[in-house]
Amino acid sequence: MGHRICPWWLGYVLASPLRRLLQDPLEIVKPYVREGMTVLEPGPGMGFFTVELARRVGASGRVVAVEVQPRMIAGLKRRLAKAGLLERTDARLAPSDSLGLQDLQGKVDFALAMAVVHEMPSSSRFFAEVAQALKPGATLLLAEPSGHVKKDAFEAELQDAAAAGLEVTDRPVIRRSQAALLKKTTN
Ligand SMILES: C[S@@+](CC[C@H](N)C(=O)[O-])C[C@H]1O[C@@H](n2cnc3c(N)ncnc32)[C@H](O)[C@@H]1O
Repeated sequence: MGHRICPWWLGYVLASPLRRLLQDPLEIVKPYVREGMTVLEPGPGMGFFTVELARRVGASGRVVAVEVQPRMIAGLKRRLAKAGLLERTDARLAPSDSLGLQDLQGKVDFALAMAVVHEMPSSSRFFAEVAQALKPGATLLLAEPSGHVKKDAFEAELQDAAAAGLEVTDRPVIRRSQAALLKKTTN
């Protein structure tokens, strides 16, 4: 685990339209997100994926985006407001040692963890908290940048996920990433 949190200015780079040349956020989330869903996005940065998630859940759904850096949250909110999607998004500042999801136990239909688990202080704790928030049978799309997170480290993350009751059900292909779709198998 790296535990180094990406600098706030990288939020602008990660949310830039140029990234679409490599990763199309809509194509990546479309298979998993439908109208009316409650979606959790830990570590949204400045919202490259959040905007698409909020569009997909529609006015009857909501996206809970949990971020540890206030400057990322500020950028995220600006982007969502510009797109008219702020109302259906709950952008939260995370406590440093947890995701603060007590109010979401068993309520989340889908979670997206994109390039974020390697920055967490504990991946075991991260998966345990996300698993508790997911409904039984709900899924988490986990992706890590293959430049930072090598195959062994990713497999170690998957073991931590399995210990939290999250099983691999698919290995979607996402460019420049190691990725897995995990399903909550316990109650
Ligand atoms: C590499 S960025 C990825 C941002 C976004 N997911 C994307 O793909 O564009 C990782 C993000 O995770 C956030 N992060 C790191 N540790 C976190 C924690 N413990 N809780 C919530 N967010 C965290 C960072 O502040 C940063 O915005």
